[in-house]
Amino acid sequence: MRTVLATTLLLAITAKVNAKSCTVQSSNGRSDDSPAIAQALSECAEDSVITFSEGVDYNVFNPVKANLSNVTIQMQGNLHLSQNITHMQSIVNASANTNATSLYWFDFKGQGINWIGSTNITTGWIECYGQAWWDTNPPNGTGAIARPHLMHYNTSNAIMQNMKIHNTIAWGVVVNGENLTISDTFIDIYSNSSGFPFNTDGFNVKGNNISILDSTIFNGDDAIAVQSGSYNILFKGGTIGYASHGLSIGSLGQDQSKFAEVENVTFDDITVVDAVYAARFKSWIGGQGLARNLTWKNIRCFNVSFPMFVTQSYFNQGSAQTQIESGSTTVRPNNASVVMENFNWVNFTGTINSYMPGDGSCVTDPCWYDAGFPDLKHNEAIIVECNTNTSCSDFNFENIQLSPQNRLEPSVICLNATAELNPQLGLEVDQDGYCVNATYVPVSS
Ligand SMILES: *[C@@H]1O[C@H](CO)[C@@H](O)[C@H](O)[C@H]1NC(C)=O
Ligand SMILES: *[C@@H]1O[C@H](CO)[C@@H](O)[C@H](O)[C@H]1NC(C)=O
Ligand SMILES: *[C@@H]1O[C@H](CO)[C@@H](O)[C@H](O)[C@H]1NC(C)=O
Ligand SMILES: *[C@@H]1O[C@H](CO)[C@@H](O)[C@H](O)[C@H]1NC(C)=O
Ligand SMILES: *[C@@H]1O[C@H](CO)[C@@H](O)[C@H](O)[C@H]1NC(C)=O
Ligand SMILES: *[C@@H]1O[C@H](CO)[C@@H](O)[C@H](O)[C@H]1NC(C)=O
Ligand SMILES: *[C@@H]1O[C@H](CO)[C@@H](O)[C@H](O)[C@H]1NC(C)=O
Ligand SMILES: *[C@@H]1O[C@H](CO)[C@@H](O)[C@H](O)[C@H]1NC(C)=O
Ligand SMILES: *[C@@H]1O[C@H](CO)[C@@H](O)[C@H](O)[C@H]1NC(C)=O
Ligand SMILES: *[C@@H]1O[C@H](CO)[C@@H](O)[C@H](O)[C@H]1NC(C)=O
Ligand SMILES: *[C@@H]1O[C@H](CO)[C@@H](O)[C@H](O)[C@H]1NC(C)=O
Ligand SMILES: *[C@@H]1O[C@H](CO)[C@@H](O)[C@H](O)[C@H]1NC(C)=O
Repeated sequence: MRTVLATTLLLAITAKVNAKSCTVQSSNGRSDDSPAIAQALSECAEDSVITFSEGVDYNVFNPVKANLSNVTIQMQGNLHLSQNITHMQSIVNASANTNATSLYWFDFKGQGINWIGSTNITTGWIECYGQAWWDTNPPNGTGAIARPHLMHYNTSNAIMQNMKIHNTIAWGVVVNGENLTISDTFIDIYSNSSGFPFNTDGFNVKGNNISILDSTIFNGDDAIAVQSGSYNILFKGGTIGYASHGLSIGSLGQDQSKFAEVENVTFDDITVVDAVYAARFKSWIGGQGLARNLTWKNIRCFNVSFPMFVTQSYFNQGSAQTQIESGSTTVRPNNASVVMENFNWVNFTGTINSYMPGDGSCVTDPCWYDAGFPDLKHNEAIIVECNTNTSCSDFNFENIQLSPQNRLEPSVICLNATAELNPQLGLEVDQDGYCVNATYVPVSS
């Protein structure tokens, strides 16, 4: 049904008279096609359709940056990033960005940029060749230096369909804007060695009214990370897995001087396979802001290490715990928190990974995801850590049915959520009205 609608919409776009169209020429593997891509994007920068021909291979050995308006990119061919790591690193290092990790190989900006990928699984891919980068990561390192991110998709009033991406070097798609519907994405990241695909976030989202539907994301970091400045976000349908770090909000409050804000986010109807986390919220010690009305519901977990996780003491592995956004480090006082209001976890089913918890992103002892939890038994269904007894309110856990593989009863680690501020908590509290570390016992509200 969706395909039919999409095709109709597409015909409506392409059928208009005087629609400009550009077909990108390929050297068929003989040379770098990024000049031809840049030329097409500049000739057809407005009110146009840009077509990458079906089944044709394009070498994208240099970054592509375009300012577009009302443009549909028909991705019927396959894009290949350079496999020369030295070449790419020199471009990242030479880029105008002072931050050596913030170069995007594809940087699209403007109103109405539609990306329509092929529905044919054999074509329409972006091949990123990340494996060789992951393999250069030294033992206990947290990723190769000078890695480019794949794409900055900064647009509004647009759709992205059937985006297909293989083995990104670092982040996948950073989405900024308003009124965006992204559907049927396939992000496939899988390491065939012990080289871990660090920082291979699927989507990083910041904006208003953004939906990501029916997508499949296998990767080595957050499947989706919803950033500060995000409102009315829906992630619905599909599967995430491999070494996924989950359906994440944050990290929020890394820059202590900025007020972080996230409101109205729903994750619904998702299967989570082999991931470290399923539902995850992370904010920094000492940050400030407000996260309000977040829901994770109808989440099916298979072999997930930490199905539900909330921390207000997040820090990045490989960074000083006190690091702030500029890269400078100052004292980070543990006296402020991004306040959390109205969080809901409803209908979680499946299994907790008891026997091989975590993933290859662990390069320290204890692993970053075990830090602060010395007594894990890997039957933990829920971990909630509120920095103060007022920093979380209106939390609600409902119909949580998770079974640890070791056949222990599922358990809860819970700090500082009070019955007074969380009347529908759905978890056990002690006589002082504080949630407790205990076997999970559903408490109806
Ligand atoms: C958008 O571009 C198409 C051509 O691809 C054109 O027919 C249409 O009129 C444009 N829409 C607007 C609002 O400019
Ligand atoms: C998919 O694309 C490939 C490569 O262009 C082509 O050979 C094949 O016939 C296509 N399959 C379908 C079902 O269109
Ligand atoms: C981007 O293109 C639009 C027109 O499509 C133009 O108004 C704007 O000035 C351009 N911005 C830059 C930075 O080139
Ligand atoms: C890789 O890129 C570097 C830097 O641009 C260049 O010196 C080298 O010749 C390239 N290697 C290959 C095999 O093309
Ligand atoms: C998003 O859609 C709303 C409702 O249609 C509209 O008012 C708003 O201007 C749109 N945002 C942008 C950036 O165009
Ligand atoms: C919470 O957000 C959802 C969408 O994610 C919305 O449907 C609902 O109305 C919001 N509730 C409140 C109280 O704002
Ligand atoms: C959150 O959703 C509610 C209910 O739909 C709406 O009233 C409110 O404006 C939304 N908040 C933001 C920041 O968009
Ligand atoms: C680059 O940006 C990242 C993410 O915002 C940040 O962690 C890092 O400290 C920055 N590095 C420099 C040198 O500014
Ligand atoms: C939870 O699951 C039940 C049973 O499938 C369903 O009726 C209910 O709508 C679900 N709740 C939410 C909030 O999706
Ligand atoms: C990697 O870290 C682990 C755990 O901290 C340590 O046991 C091991 O010796 C380290 N390996 C190297 C090569 O540094
Ligand atoms: C609950 O468990 C956490 C993590 O192991 C621990 O830090 C905390 O002290 C425990 N709380 C109580 C009251 O034992
Ligand atoms: C709980 O909150 C109080 C203040 O509200 C704080 O002093 C205490 O350190 C918190 N406990 C934990 C384990 O974070």
